[in-house]
Amino acid sequence: MKVLVVGGGGREHALCWAIAASPLLTRLWCAPGNAGIAEVAECVAIGAEDIPALVGFARDQAVDLVVCGPEAPLTLGLADACAVAGIRCFGPSAAAAQLEGSKAFTREVADAAGAPGARWARFTDPVAARAYIRAQGAPIVVKADGLAAGKGVVVAATVAEAEAAIADIMESRIHGESGATVLVEECLVGQEVSFFALCDGATAIALGAAQDHKRVGDGDTGPNTGGMGAYSPPPIFTEALRDDVMARIVKPVLAEMSRRGAPFRGVLFAGLMITAHGPRLIEFNVRFGDPECQALMVRLRSDLLPALLAACDGELASFDLRWDPVHALVVVMAAQGYPGVYAKGSEIRGLERAAQIPGVQVFHAGTARREDGALVATGGRVLGVTGTGTTLAEAQAAAYAAVDAIDWPGGFCRRDIGWRAL
Ligand code: AMP
Ligand code: GLY
Repeated sequence: MKVLVVGGGGREHALCWAIAASPLLTRLWCAPGNAGIAEVAECVAIGAEDIPALVGFARDQAVDLVVCGPEAPLTLGLADACAVAGIRCFGPSAAAAQLEGSKAFTREVADAAGAPGARWARFTDPVAARAYIRAQGAPIVVKADGLAAGKGVVVAATVAEAEAAIADIMESRIHGESGATVLVEECLVGQEVSFFALCDGATAIALGAAQDHKRVGDGDTGPNTGGMGAYSPPPIFTEALRDDVMARIVKPVLAEMSRRGAPFRGVLFAGLMITAHGPRLIEFNVRFGDPECQALMVRLRSDLLPALLAACDGELASFDLRWDPVHALVVVMAAQGYPGVYAKGSEIRGLERAAQIPGVQVFHAGTARREDGALVATGGRVLGVTGTGTTLAEAQAAAYAAVDAIDWPGGFCRRDIGWRAL
């Protein structure tokens, strides 16, 4: 079986690493990939959002399965273009990818499905939005409707802060047209969990859960990032909670998407708040999380490839996934300055030493090889240093031992990944 993975981050390295272990695989490409992915797949110099070039390559090489890592190619119609070309694609159609592309769409679908979430209202008029905020009081959450590079959400502690967010998003349009429509939501309180379900349009099976660390600094301080570390499984996410989320959120939403003529195939990533009143939906993403995917892949004992194929072919109903009873913990190493301005090109040494530590897997995100063969940083998030162990504490110790074996003065990481659970 010939497979093309789309993307070039840590999530895609973990997917390539898992797919490369499949006995069904005959050839694996990744577009555009990175220096770590190049060790398990052939990297192709095609951008992850160049849909015609990706589909053309897949057709020329008679690829059997395209696996999409990030959301942008999906919202741009990669799965639809693959379908036209007769190529299987793991990932939803553009219509189904609206679950990530539009927050208002997600809230409407969730309400129609009866899935529990925050109270919300939608506004295109800033005057009406301000009146609603004053009536509701603080804390309250203001969100730009469309994609805003993860920066379109303001959790406001005061009414004044929420009103300032309305001015920034709707009037100054700091996120452009994404701010033409705004959602104002009830502020949910609790711990956040990332939950993943594999979906084939009609059937969903639980993949697992993880907890991410979105803030850049220790103790969850500083600006938001794409994710500075994750661990799986999260101790607070019990089997009873998982069953509740499958029954009240994932399955009804899957049925509602089919009813709307946009059946969802791929990974449905539910961002949940575990509140005192039970799990509440914050948002959906239409892909694996990064770095959550890295923590899940090192725990997966089943062959990933047949599971992805079953999702594409509508055959998940009879599918079962097996997991190692280990804990996994990912520490993200990022370039100094991230999530703000950071330098590219600094050299990274010591990965061989790190990889020899038992239970450690280092996934690459923003890396490349210089002409002389040296490994250099090319992105904000650069490495996902992943440890496993029989306890979460052991997994954490393995990950930080590997971090300490890596010699990269241009990088930094949080030193407290896993703190909530330890
Ligand atoms: P989103 O882009 O929707 O994932 O939101 C980014 C972050 O804002 C989430 O990970 C939460 O930490 C926070 N957030 C979003 N919506 C709410 C809400 N209704 N209540 C509390 N926190 C929220
Ligand atoms: N780590 C959060 C995300 O992938 O959206």
